[in-house]
Amino acid sequence: MDLKDKAALVTGGSAGIGLAVARALVAGGCRVALVARTRQNLERAVAELGSQRAVAFAIDVTDRAAVAALPAQVAQQLGGLDILINNAGYNCRGAVQDRKAEELVQILETNLTAPVFLTRLALDQLRPGGVIVNVASIAGKIPVPHEAAYSASKFGLRAFSRALAEDLRPRGIRVSCVCPGPVDTEFFGDLSSVPDLVFSQPMSSAEQVAAVIMRCVHADPAPLELDIPAVSGALAQAGYLFPALSALLRPSLEKKGALAKAEYIRRKSPRS
Ligand SMILES: NC(=O)c1ccc[n+]([C@@H]2O[C@H](COP(=O)([O-])OP(=O)(O)OC[C@H]3O[C@@H](n4cnc5c(N)ncnc54)[C@H](OP(=O)(O)O)[C@@H]3O)[C@@H](O)[C@H]2O)c1
Repeated sequence: MDLKDKAALVTGGSAGIGLAVARALVAGGCRVALVARTRQNLERAVAELGSQRAVAFAIDVTDRAAVAALPAQVAQQLGGLDILINNAGYNCRGAVQDRKAEELVQILETNLTAPVFLTRLALDQLRPGGVIVNVASIAGKIPVPHEAAYSASKFGLRAFSRALAEDLRPRGIRVSCVCPGPVDTEFFGDLSSVPDLVFSQPMSSAEQVAAVIMRCVHADPAPLELDIPAVSGALAQAGYLFPALSALLRPSLEKKGALAKAEYIRRKSPRS
């Protein structure tokens, strides 16, 4: 896809993976609409990307009234819509019985219902030749304990992406899903709550994930799904298909993950 003068909508575009994608899109000549809740972070991102190239919408993706008007507003401000990146995500970790019911539902609302809702509305604006990239997770390929609702939301987003790709093929709109393993962003929040298993896989940077998303934006036909790292995706897939293998590998992966997590926490601590 030639990005020059194309228009993109990136949810979660003020930080982490979304901001890295926005940088790559703007570098290619695209105009971007960034969606996030925190106005100050959006303003910082627009200042960095340039107000000729980026506009901000301070919207919660679970706010249906606000999202209902969003694609038309974006198309009006950017002169159309060619690219949708469903990237905003939410997680709160812990055993299901230790979390409030509302917290668990909020994960599904943000990571699954919101992309479905926004995608449908964006289809009224997306031009033929356009592309949709959904950001799922390796946790959407193998269920992760203490992240049950998060895993469920990302499994669901993968399924939605796969079926959507077939629905939209006659319209000439491509659909891809990207599944990252751990990524070095603020998404972890309280690191002590992150299961050791998560850290057993190699950590990617937001820029590395953005590069994979950009491969999907450009490729025709678009890949249905790309994992980053690919080896983590293959391991998760094998673990899902063969639960006995998963149970066998789990203790050594958790041990490896505990060491990697301790090292990551040490690296992130202000004194190091
Ligand atoms: N980091 C990882 O290890 C990892 C691994 C696999 C998959 N992922 C997925 O990658 C995606 C991006 O994560 P990230 O690592 O880039 O996280 P991040 O650095 O924390 O950035 C999250 C972005 O989403 C926005 N956001 C969160 N909730 C929102 C809501 N309800 N409405 C609108 N915007 C919202 C945030 O802004 P506000 O808070 O201001 O709204 C921010 O711009 C998520 O879908 C996540 O599940 C991340």
